Amino acid sequence: MSALSVNHLLGIKYLKPDDIQLIFETADQFKEVINRPIKKVPSLRDITIANLFFENSTRTKLSFELAEKRLSADIINFSAAQSSVKKGETLIDTVNNILSMKVDMVVMRHPNPGAGIFLSKHINATIINAGDGAHEHPTQALLDCYSIRERLGSVDGKKVVIVGDILHSRVALSNIYALKMLGAKVMVCGPKTLLPKFIGDLGVLVETNLIKALNWCDVANMLRVQNERMEVNYFPSTREYAQQYGVTKALLDKLEKEIVIMHPGPINRGVEITSDVADSSHSIILNQVENGVAIRMAVIYLLASKIKHS
Ligand code: NCD
Repeated sequence: MSALSVNHLLGIKYLKPDDIQLIFETADQFKEVINRPIKKVPSLRDITIANLFFENSTRTKLSFELAEKRLSADIINFSAAQSSVKKGETLIDTVNNILSMKVDMVVMRHPNPGAGIFLSKHINATIINAGDGAHEHPTQALLDCYSIRERLGSVDGKKVVIVGDILHSRVALSNIYALKMLGAKVMVCGPKTLLPKFIGDLGVLVETNLIKALNWCDVANMLRVQNERMEVNYFPSTREYAQQYGVTKALLDKLEKEIVIMHPGPINRGVEITSDVADSSHSIILNQVENGVAIRMAVIYLLASKIKHS
């Protein structure tokens, strides 16, 4: 396979296993490029990309920007806080205005689930979803699976537990789709109030006991509690959450095996993981960040080659 089956990256749900393999193989090549003294390729000199961030982001925004620059694309950045969205402009009007400046591709983060899907039906540009509310965050899941493949050789057959705020997390849903597509066994673990009622229907195991989950898994992906998406309290206090669902070095030392610890960032040190875990040899958190650039280069490159051929 040499081309993706999709024209946009709206969610992992729309990909096929072969698409993910192609993205990984392409990312392998770009990883080599970004470790060279000259970290840039001229591949996308004729492509203009708009990064539209209607919601805050640090690493995802920087990672996309860097990926685009490494591919020599022209880029424009837009952040909702400084924009006319605050003056009442609609999403389609905002984006169409930007597109009239001859933009080929839009990378968008938006607080509303489905915002990218909506946009892809109304505008004539390639859309990459950089996180839509509590729905999907496809490039995060791709870089997470890529990082597991790098550390453990493959994703197939590995036992991965996603711990924490599954209810409000787009990282959780995209990871579940991607991990299952690649043959991993998936468990979710957290307080009952943060586990969606029908999550088991996605074919994942459900566990509320962190010790049991850690004893079961090869990899634990620790998620941040998404306080900004909560209107009520889902657990008594942060201290209590950390006691029941925080991974500490003492907990890891009690396990009979070495497990891999992941986190999409931003980390709340001392809540979902302690500092000594985040900075330990178990952790591949910084590898995830490094791989994020190669994965995003691969996705942008593969989608851009579809623009040129259509
Ligand atoms: C995640 C996100 O924004 O969904 N972070 C990220 O993209 N690196 C997770 C989070 O905010 O906790």
